[in-house]
Amino acid sequence: MDRCNFRCPYCMPAEVYHERFRFLRSPERLEFAEITRLAALLVGLGVSKLRITGGEPLLRPAISDLVADLATLEGVEDLALTTNGVLLAQHAVALKAAGLDRVTVSLDSLDPDVFARMSGGRAQLARVLEGIEAAVEAGLSPLKLNVVVQRGVNDHTLLDLLARFRGSGVIVRFIEYMDVGTRNGWRLEDVVPSAELRTRIHERWPLEPLEAGYRGEVARRWRFVDGQGEIGFISSVSAPFCGDCSRARLSSDGKLFTCLFASEGVDLRELLRGGVDDDALRAALIELWRGRDDRYSELRARATREDKAEMFYLGG
Ligand code: 5AD
Ligand code: SF4
Repeated sequence: MDRCNFRCPYCMPAEVYHERFRFLRSPERLEFAEITRLAALLVGLGVSKLRITGGEPLLRPAISDLVADLATLEGVEDLALTTNGVLLAQHAVALKAAGLDRVTVSLDSLDPDVFARMSGGRAQLARVLEGIEAAVEAGLSPLKLNVVVQRGVNDHTLLDLLARFRGSGVIVRFIEYMDVGTRNGWRLEDVVPSAELRTRIHERWPLEPLEAGYRGEVARRWRFVDGQGEIGFISSVSAPFCGDCSRARLSSDGKLFTCLFASEGVDLRELLRGGVDDDALRAALIELWRGRDDRYSELRARATREDKAEMFYLGG
């Protein structure tokens, strides 16, 4: 879903995504059957983890139907959804029943003012917290929290956030603020390198490293020495992991992107709607994946690109 009911300045700044911004019209978005057909082929080619993102996926009507379709695909080992959490309390039970394994909730601060600033002032923190609780109760676990860290904006509130979730089973993951898209005014000095944040946390609650859960895992995992659970750091700025990345992203209008920082995706909607058969579509997907050579984050130091796609369009 390309739309969102938040306006996080690092993702969809309100000055750009105002009332007259032209989002996709319904017929431009892939239908669930089209998404499922592509997913089935990708799973046949070896994909085992699927994630529904946005924008805000819970704004898409009947999203549980899509979950149910994807959950029936043979070979899907992990079916997850990333949400801002505001609508989660009302959807959690249906999502679980449809076959969703787990959710990731974006939550940058528990300080109401900081939360308002980082979500664009449209959301109520209390509803996000209810959503998190409802998801845990519904069994959508392990629940992860995505926390985008911006220097001078929310970095002074992060120990409080950890204090609340430590020991609860919720896995907090800190994400270095990234230069995705071209509209968020990113500056390197706004990034808090994960190592710096980790030192601050370690001084309060000692940490020790954990092994990666699987090859290509983007978060570096650490556990509290006192047994109160684990946290993660996603450090695409200070420690790029392009070489290990095996993600592809399908936008709402059917473009496949092989990198979060790509400027152009390959239009699969045209192919789908042009009546392509499965063999030809599979061949196109293989070709696309073989040809990929993206390593934007590793090249960041040299690159100043002005044409990257936006985060709400690609999902995380
Ligand atoms: N830098 C880092 N993380 C971002 N997200 C969105 N924009 C950015 C950015 N510029 C995060 C959201 C969400 C996830 C999909 O990506 O907070 O949790
Ligand atoms: Fe919406 Fe998530 Fe982007 Fe915030 S980060 S504007 S909640 S899509």
